[in-house]
Amino acid sequence: MRAVPDVTQVCNPNQSAIVMRTFENLLPKLVTCLALLGSACLMAGEVEVLHYWTSGGEAKSVAELKGMMASRGHSWKDFTVTGGGGQNAMAVLKQRVLAGSAPAAANIKGPTIQEWADLHVLTNLDAMASFEKWDEVLPKVIADQMKHKGRYVAVPVNVHRVNWLWANSAVLKKAGVTALPSSYDEFFAAADKIKAAGFIPVAHGGQDWQDFTVFESVALGVGGAAFYNNALVKLDRNALASEEMRKSLNVFRRIKAYVDDKSTGRDWNVTTEMVIKGKAGFQFMGDWAKGEFLAAGQKPGADFSCSPAPGTAKAYTYNVDSFAMFQLKGWEAQKAQGYLAYLLMGQDFQEKFNLRKGSIPARLNMKMDKFDDCAKTSSKDFVATSKAGTLLPSVAHGMAVSSAAQAALRSAVSEFWNNDKTTVGDTVAKLVAVAGQRQRQ
Ligand code: BGC
Repeated sequence: MRAVPDVTQVCNPNQSAIVMRTFENLLPKLVTCLALLGSACLMAGEVEVLHYWTSGGEAKSVAELKGMMASRGHSWKDFTVTGGGGQNAMAVLKQRVLAGSAPAAANIKGPTIQEWADLHVLTNLDAMASFEKWDEVLPKVIADQMKHKGRYVAVPVNVHRVNWLWANSAVLKKAGVTALPSSYDEFFAAADKIKAAGFIPVAHGGQDWQDFTVFESVALGVGGAAFYNNALVKLDRNALASEEMRKSLNVFRRIKAYVDDKSTGRDWNVTTEMVIKGKAGFQFMGDWAKGEFLAAGQKPGADFSCSPAPGTAKAYTYNVDSFAMFQLKGWEAQKAQGYLAYLLMGQDFQEKFNLRKGSIPARLNMKMDKFDDCAKTSSKDFVATSKAGTLLPSVAHGMAVSSAAQAALRSAVSEFWNNDKTTVGDTVAKLVAVAGQRQRQ
């Protein structure tokens, strides 16, 4: 526990309400308060938090947070909107904020943080950030995404790596696959063996965000980091229309032949369960999938394996879950919200939460000894790819482009996956149109 005051120990609501509104001088004033009155001034508040963490592993992770809030007397109100990847949650959040009843905090990521901050509905966290030295304890690439016009408006809780391939060890063994595939030639050879052995080679949930999760890993593996960055992050017209894009779409379509026919609409965690239970060999998914393997009592390296998606070992697509704090009325609510922001950035929370969530801490210099080898690899590769210039934001998970551009890319790729009559040429034309859309913004 850090040597900072307990922010539930507050005794002058009127003065502190003003303080809390901007978090200015919050902690020094609380120190004074605590020194004067000690625990006699305990007052607790409620935080309503929008998230979409409803699968087995996710629920266990969020339970850590609820427990920590409760241990300081604050109550937690779940505002859960089911739906992996958070699209549904973002739609419901819009309705709530427009209706004037924003939650205290919401899991919002990447450029969407900027879109909300532009509407002047987020709380400025700068005073807490400077007191707690967030600039020093966060990688710059993450800190920058948490800021709007240079001011902190969101708090990062983790780094998920998206470009992973998960595998069931027993299925691979029974199929005679002796090494994890590091190229698509190896991948398809392994998939053929798994199919011949009577298993489903690739577990895939047919939802547009899952289609795009697979596609971006394929594009990275087939076209390389520079292509990924130019085409999918910068939305460069030439890169979107390039030969690499055509090749990526062709490989992506080839994977479909290895997916079972009940894939349509299936949730990602139900899909991961197919790998956990030994029905399927592989799944392309970010490391929230590891949270499911762990929640099912499985061990990495023994029951399942994590390896970078084919061709992507030297690159890293990152996805940072972060909580934006909305402006609230009322001292109690502001106080609980302030404590939540403080807690989320603490080492204790970041360790406990990420051990369950499958991700790694967003904070730098955290001890990794309690983490498994998948997390250790992720942590090492985050640093190495950051130096090599191959650390890239995940497009599928809202880290790279505006929500409108993301939706347009997602819809073109999903249509290509679902409709075999849609040609590579049709899809390239739709993707190139997204470049035009960006220029108009
Ligand atoms: C989020 C993860 C979440 C996953 C499945 C991702 O976009 O960042 O926290 O577990 O979607 O819902």
